[in-house]
Amino acid sequence: VNPADLDHGVTAETVGQLIATVATVVHSESVSRWIVAHAAGITPGALLTKLDDPVSDTAVDGALALAARCQAGEPLQYVLGEWSFRRLEVSVDRRALVPRPETEHVVDIALEELHQLARMTAPVIVADLGTGSGVIALSLALEGSENDTIDLQVWATDASPSALELARVNLGALATSHPSAAARVTVAEGTWFDALPPTLTGRVSLVVSNPPYVSAAEWTGLDPVVRDHEPRTALVPGPTGTEALDVLIDEGRRWLIPGGRLVLEMAPHQAGALRARATAAGYVDVRVRPDLTGRDRTLVATRPHV
Ligand SMILES: C[S@@+](CC[C@H](N)C(=O)[O-])C[C@H]1O[C@@H](n2cnc3c(N)ncnc32)[C@H](O)[C@@H]1O
Repeated sequence: VNPADLDHGVTAETVGQLIATVATVVHSESVSRWIVAHAAGITPGALLTKLDDPVSDTAVDGALALAARCQAGEPLQYVLGEWSFRRLEVSVDRRALVPRPETEHVVDIALEELHQLARMTAPVIVADLGTGSGVIALSLALEGSENDTIDLQVWATDASPSALELARVNLGALATSHPSAAARVTVAEGTWFDALPPTLTGRVSLVVSNPPYVSAAEWTGLDPVVRDHEPRTALVPGPTGTEALDVLIDEGRRWLIPGGRLVLEMAPHQAGALRARATAAGYVDVRVRPDLTGRDRTLVATRPHV
C-alpha cells in the first residue's frame, strides 16, 4: 500500500477512524492499535480513552507507512522498532531476534535460581550467552538485585557484532533509567564461553541462555514473518537444532562454581534428550520446567559440589 494512495483526510480524522483504516490494511484490529498508538505518540494503554481525539496528518502518514511494512510481512516489533520485555522497553530491529514471551518466563526461572545462589555465594556472576537485544541480561541486572541487596555481575555476550550493537543501545537506555542496574552489565563478543575472560572459569554462578534451537529443516517451514526477517543465526544453530544447547551443556560445567546453575531455553521436543545429556555430563538436580502454556521449555541443571 502506498500511503499516498489513501485519502486520509477523509478516512481518518480521529484516532478511532485511523485504527479502523489501518485495520483494513493489516487485517488485524490489535496490530492496528499498536501502530496507531506508536504513530500518534499515545501509550497503548491510553489509546481506548482517546478514540475521539483528532489525529494529525503526520500521525496518519506515519501509521500508514508502518502498516504498509506490516502488510509486506515484516514483524510488528521491527516495524515499531521497540517492544516490551518484562519491565524493559527495548529497541528491536533486524540485528537481533524479537524477544518472546517464553523468554520472559525463562527469566522468572533464572531469578529463582539467582536468589538461591545469592544465599550461598558472592558475588553472583551471571552469564547470558547469546544475549541478542540484551533482554535476559538486562532484566536480570534490573530485577536480580532489588535495592542493591545482592552483589551481582552480569555478562551479556553474543557472537554477532550487530546484535551486540543493539544490546549496547538497550544497555544505554537502562543506564539512563536505572544506572545502578546498568553498571552491573558487561558486554562481550565471542562464540559461547569464548566470550568470557578465562579468569571466570569455575566462577560463574548462573549460565543462562536462549540459544538458537530450530533445526535447519524446521526453519524452512517457519512462518515467513519470522523466517524472512529475523536473523537465521539467532534461530538455527545447525542441522539438528541442538548444536548450541549441546555446547552450553557440555562446556557449562567447567565455567560454573560448584552448586552453580545452568538455565537454558529449548524447544519442548528437545527436553528428553537434553535432560539425558545434562545428566550424562555430570550435572545434578536436572529439571525441566514448563512454559506458561504447559510445554517443556527450560532446562535447569546444577554443577555438583564434588
Ligand atoms: C534465540 S536468539 C536469543 C536472543 C535473546 N537472548 C533473546 O532471548 O531474545 C539467540 C542468540 O544467540 C546468538 N548466537 C548464535 N550463535 C552463537 C554463538 N556461536 N555464540 C554466541 N552467540 C550466538 C545469536 O546471535 C542470537 O543473538
